[in-house]
This record gives sequence, C-alpha cells and structure tokens, in this order.
Amino acid sequence: MLEVTGVSKSYPGAGENLVVLHDISFTLEPDQQLAIMGPSGSGKSTLLAILGGLESPTTGRVVLDGVDPFAGSAADRAAYRNRRIGFVFQEHHLLPGCSALDNVLVPALATGRVPREIAARGQRLLERVGLGARLHHRPGELSGGERQRVAVARALLLSPRLILADEPTGQLDSHAATRVADLLVDLASDDGSMLVVVTHAEPLAARVGSVRRLVDGRLVS
Ligand SMILES: Nc1ncnc2c1ncn2[C@@H]1O[C@H](COP(=O)(O)OP(=O)(O)OP(=O)(O)O)[C@@H](O)[C@H]1O
Ligand SMILES: [Mg+2]
Repeated sequence: MLEVTGVSKSYPGAGENLVVLHDISFTLEPDQQLAIMGPSGSGKSTLLAILGGLESPTTGRVVLDGVDPFAGSAADRAAYRNRRIGFVFQEHHLLPGCSALDNVLVPALATGRVPREIAARGQRLLERVGLGARLHHRPGELSGGERQRVAVARALLLSPRLILADEPTGQLDSHAATRVADLLVDLASDDGSMLVVVTHAEPLAARVGSVRRLVDGRLVS
C-alpha cells in the first residue's frame, strides 16, 4: 500500500519560495492504478520524483508498504528505488551500446551478477511485450514504440511494488501509444504492482480507470 500524507514541495527562490506541490494526500491499495493528468508545470513530474524517492518532499510523508524512503540514509533510498520502484519515462533512457535484453537486465546489475532466473524473466518480459525476436537489437535498431516497450519490460524486471510512469506514451503515435499503454496497464496488473502514470493521453488515463488531476500543485478529483 502507498500512503502519501500532506506532501508539499517548494523551491527557495529570490524573495519568496516557489511552491510546486500543496498538501497532497492520497492512498493507493495493492493492485490499484492511478492516472494523474494536469497542465504543464502543475507539478506532475515533481510528485512522481517524490514517490520514487528521487526527490525529498519539503513537508509530509511517503510510505510504501511500511517503508518511508526519506527516513533512512542515501543508501536506503537507493535500495528503495532499485527494489521497490519501476520507472518509465517519456524518453526511454536505454543504454545505446547494450542489447534490448541487457537493457532490461540493468536493474538487476545494481545487486551484482544477474541470477539466471532474473535473466530468464527479462527474456520472458521482452517476449511478452512482443520483442522476442529483438532480444539482441540495440536501441538504435528499434522503433520508438519498441524502445518504449523495452523500457516497460525493464521497469518490471524486479517485480516492483510501485511502477511510476511519466508520460510513457508522449513521444509515440497513437497506434504505438495504445500498445505501450495496454502493456503497461496489463503487466502491472498481472504482477500485482501499483501503478501511477502521468499522462496527457485520455485513452491511457481511461485504461487506468482512476484519474486525478493536478492543478496548480493541488490534487483534485
Ligand atoms: N529543481 C527545481 N528548481 C526550481 N523549480 C523547479 C525545479 N523542478 C521543477 N521546478 C518547477 O516546478 C514546477 C512543476 O514542474 P514539473 O516538472 O513537476 O511539472 P509537470 O507538471 O511535470 O509539467 P510538464 O507537463 O510540462 O512535464 C514548474 O514550474 C518547474 O519550473
Ligand atoms: Mg513533467
């Protein structure tokens, strides 16, 4: 379960603080999925960065399955990100010199050698996203939609409790976007992962079911 309580974020500025998020509270049950929509600059990416332990909130708490990523050391926070969170961004952020399969296995490298069952899971995930015939292609040899499907497989490798996706279909045409959106929603649900997805795409938000809007840093229904 994800519990977000009274989260705000401000950046110190000249004279007055820039308040980006105001008192955000919500909970997400295991298996639940949430889409967040809202205008540019409303704080969507900032909120995801806080949920993922990439940025600390100015006030408030994030607790995922009883763990507060901001309560411990930087190493604890890195472990939280690596073990509990799967990220998908608008840009795929794949390593250009590595094959699709090696890119999917990147989250497992943080812990040393990749165990055989994890390597097998990586391959199964690539097959599941329709890239079984592209295991050894490099990102430059894949289409935009295929690259984003590799990024989805990578996010799922370690069965994270929470998948955070920031405009995962923003760069894709509608056909490729639908495929990536379907895979993201279906794979998260098959795995019992929670999903929070930021999107401007109504079809993706509709697929997720529960939709909240961020307006000027405030979460509205
Ligand atoms: N490190 C930072 N320092 C100061 N201001 C920041 C910082 N990061 C983000 N902001 C400001 O916070 C606000 C929210 O940014 P954020 O990236 O969360 O918006 P967004 O909703 O994701 O927008 P978009 O839809 O364009 O991606 C913006 O006004 C931005 O300028
Ligand atoms: Mg953003």
